[in-house]
Amino acid sequence: RWPDFVQMKEVGPRDGLQNEQQQIATADKIDWINRLSESGVQEIEYSSFVHPKLIPALSDAYEVGQRITRKPGVRYSALVPNMKGLELALEAGIDGASVFMSASETHNRKNINKSIAETYPVLQPVVTEAKKAGKHVTGYVSTVFDCPYEGRISPDEVLRVCEQLFAFGVDDISLGDTIGTAVPAQVDQLLGKVLSRFPSSQIIMHFHDTRGMAIANIMRSMEHGITRFDSSIGGLGGCPFAPGAAGNVATNDVLYLLSGLGIETGMDEHRLQEAAFYIQDKLGKTLPSKSLAYAASK
Ligand code: HMG
Ligand code: MG
Repeated sequence: RWPDFVQMKEVGPRDGLQNEQQQIATADKIDWINRLSESGVQEIEYSSFVHPKLIPALSDAYEVGQRITRKPGVRYSALVPNMKGLELALEAGIDGASVFMSASETHNRKNINKSIAETYPVLQPVVTEAKKAGKHVTGYVSTVFDCPYEGRISPDEVLRVCEQLFAFGVDDISLGDTIGTAVPAQVDQLLGKVLSRFPSSQIIMHFHDTRGMAIANIMRSMEHGITRFDSSIGGLGGCPFAPGAAGNVATNDVLYLLSGLGIETGMDEHRLQEAAFYIQDKLGKTLPSKSLAYAASK
């Protein structure tokens, strides 16, 4: 029923920090990412090469990319919205480029200032060039269940965006529950459609935990054969262009679940906790992860 191995991507340094008002010093970020590298995680999304005025918390992406210590076996990736972002990311150093767009017209416009149709010709050359440079390319699709502006998004619209991104040559697609509204029945509906077209090995699920449903949705996704998930240490995060959305599901909570089910992740719970306490201390606030709060009380 359950997979033997689940591959985790740590998005805390990107999705986690992008919505934080408080600027973490670049040196502390680098120190933190280096600690995350020691947790056994397979991939770390270390920053975003987006417009620095829109996401000031990640305006040091270039310096972070240049100065982190790259642990062999870990893929270091970053968000790139266009060619300018890709060029900077390639210079700073990436193993993976993540392009992103939304299944909802309104969220796409609020997030990246373009209609869905206008976004494709921007992303296609980014995917082509990143592949030419030998990079892994992930395509994020946001608001795959609900949009904060348009409400319910149909699985057919999500499928259309996935088809286009795969046609451009992305290696895999991460499906984003951007505002954390989905329940497992919606996961059934969406994955029923998506997995009839694409193999589960190319689909990653990216749950935000606004209503506490992320763990239930991860369980349900695994029942559909999904073995790859995005998460954020301590549950940090949110999208500044999706009002009211909470952070990603907490890596610490997912790890607790997976290890309890006997599923391998290659990750070290203790090192992960230490990295979570490190950033909690820098931010000066308690992170939402329940298993982290429990660990802190011991
Ligand atoms: P735009 O204003 O339409 O861009 O922004 P433009 O191409 O018209 O350029 C305007 C100016 O921006 C120019 O500067 C460009 O050089 C500059 P000027 O000539 O005026 O001085 N510019 C850039 N500067 C630095 N880096 C770049 C870049 N591109 C252009 N890459 C753009 C379009 C996409 C750039 C902008 O809207 C943007 O940066 N948006 C980012 C939004 C964002 O980061 N959102 C959060 C991440 S997505 C997310 O969280 C969801 C996810 O987690 C999944 C889920 O949860 O669903 C992935
Ligand atoms: Mg997200």
